[in-house]
Amino acid sequence: MCGITGYIGDKKAAEVLIDGLKRLEYRGYDSCGVAIINGKNELYLRRVSGRVDALDELVAKDPVKGGFVGIGHTRWATHGVPSEDNAHPHTDCNNQVVIVHNGIIENYLEIKEKLSKTGHKFKSETDTETIVHLVEEKLKTLHVSAANARADMLEPVFFEAVRRAIADLKGSFALSVIWAKCPNMILAARQHSPLAIGLGEGGNFIASDVSAFLKYTKKAVFLNDGELAAVKAPSVSYFSFQGKKLDHSPVTIQWDSTMAEKGGYKHFMLKEIHEQPGSVENTLRGRLLPLKGDVLEKEINLPTAVIREIKNVQIIACGTAYHAGLVGRYVFENFALPASVDFASEFSDRAKIINKDTLIIAVSQSGETADTLHAVKEAKASGARVIAITNTVGSTLTREADYVLYTHCGPEIGVASTKAFLGQMTAMYVLALHFAVIRGNIFDTDARIYVDELLKIPRLIEATLAGEDNILKIAGDFAGSEHFLFISRYINFPIALEGALKIKEIAYVHAEGYAAGEMKHGPIALIDKGMPVLAIATSSKMLQLVAGNIEEAKARGAEVIAIVDEDSREHIKASKYIVVPKTLEILSPLVNVIPLQLFAYFIALAKKCDIDKPRNLAKSVTVR
Ligand code: F6R
Repeated sequence: MCGITGYIGDKKAAEVLIDGLKRLEYRGYDSCGVAIINGKNELYLRRVSGRVDALDELVAKDPVKGGFVGIGHTRWATHGVPSEDNAHPHTDCNNQVVIVHNGIIENYLEIKEKLSKTGHKFKSETDTETIVHLVEEKLKTLHVSAANARADMLEPVFFEAVRRAIADLKGSFALSVIWAKCPNMILAARQHSPLAIGLGEGGNFIASDVSAFLKYTKKAVFLNDGELAAVKAPSVSYFSFQGKKLDHSPVTIQWDSTMAEKGGYKHFMLKEIHEQPGSVENTLRGRLLPLKGDVLEKEINLPTAVIREIKNVQIIACGTAYHAGLVGRYVFENFALPASVDFASEFSDRAKIINKDTLIIAVSQSGETADTLHAVKEAKASGARVIAITNTVGSTLTREADYVLYTHCGPEIGVASTKAFLGQMTAMYVLALHFAVIRGNIFDTDARIYVDELLKIPRLIEATLAGEDNILKIAGDFAGSEHFLFISRYINFPIALEGALKIKEIAYVHAEGYAAGEMKHGPIALIDKGMPVLAIATSSKMLQLVAGNIEEAKARGAEVIAIVDEDSREHIKASKYIVVPKTLEILSPLVNVIPLQLFAYFIALAKKCDIDKPRNLAKSVTVR
């Protein structure tokens, strides 16, 4: 999420930066800006709320004089609504130090509070601005008198100030910083957010991904977590956060720029499937611990009194977000808070029986889905309070809701939702655990078990993704099938629904998701010889029943593809197996959906469908 560019060299920085931002727009597009040090060592800062084309026009009308060093940014809002004030680059109190940042600073409120007390004036609502004031503060403590100092003498001081500022940060960041007093160097740093350095002829580049500079150079160095780069026009030096000098050899990039935007993947959907370990991490980041801390309360402003007062939860959403809601229902009920779920489009009548005892959870990636927005209005009219789970800062839903929990998954470009789904489910676990702790429905020791296991989920997703080739092979065997059934029970029943939805929307094949126990009440009649049935049969209190349902399907000729874990496998007799790592049953949807997303993707690929833009669908459905 968010795109960073940086350039220092013999070309006009404005052109290089804006060209790079256009290529990075897929990473975020709600606002953007550039900061360039002009020929007189003054700062040229231009920002717009909107797309890079608007920034391009603004810069063209009032071009920078000189200017061969600068940084740029295209934003996908995480803290603060999309607006010019919140757009990057951000400056310190004196408009001398300037920063662009991608990621989330977990402890920014704490730092901001301290800096405000020492007189720093903040101009935005972002976490990013905190970093630049922190660098300013560190420069002060290094006692530099920059007024008469030569720029090259200031370089070590600037480096040290940035290094010390970074040491105070918790969270994820890729950042680039410039200082008007020190115009021959850009500092760049990475911690859990990608950042690449491009090594060119006559100048060097910085970018969140190489697509931004491939036009100029194919030689790149990818910074590792915990590394800083001092980027100058003739050379780049690399350091650890502790200040130790490092060596890096550049790699030669073989991709063209379109491939690079997709991270080398053929489709955004596949890229987004692979980004899911990060989606879960981003949704969890800083929100689970300390258990009884007020991290979440501070962030969403949902008073503990409300959490204690409410009698039940009503979830409303559409499509994939509705499936996340179904998972959420089991999760809340697991922690003893009654919950129900409705399609937002079917909620009208139920809204009448809602009152302030019910907390509405509206789930929407875009925050613009008309059905969900309408349902929220109706619920509010009945006196209910609304919390939104959304991926989109500043969306209509965030303005309609009383409280907001962001999923922080970054822009989802593929029309079929994947990483946002993971973020939505993760947000359900975060909220339900938080509620359970506050309401005293769970012992701290038990809550810690869930927290520890949740924190392991990103690695389990990575392990699942590593099994991609097996899924590709199985999908190849069934690419010609005209019907698919997806079955499971309990908390994986919504995952069966999601598996069927994915294949319907991107591969245009008929598919049904069913509660495995319901099959015998009708749909089993659909099964005949060779019909593929995907059964989620990971370790569960229901496993024996699922095994029985699989036998019933096989007896009617079904070819069963079973999603199993290392323990459940021996209990399931299937034609094909997809083995996923074992986790707690309640958390297993986060892992089990991955093979189904990949399966749908590979079927659609074999059928040569337009995967990122399936026919008849739109990313955001703004009509009812
Ligand atoms: C399916 C899909 C849709 C959306 C639904 C709600 O892959 O993307 O079903 O989930 O249209 O969209 P949001 O979450 O934006 O409200």
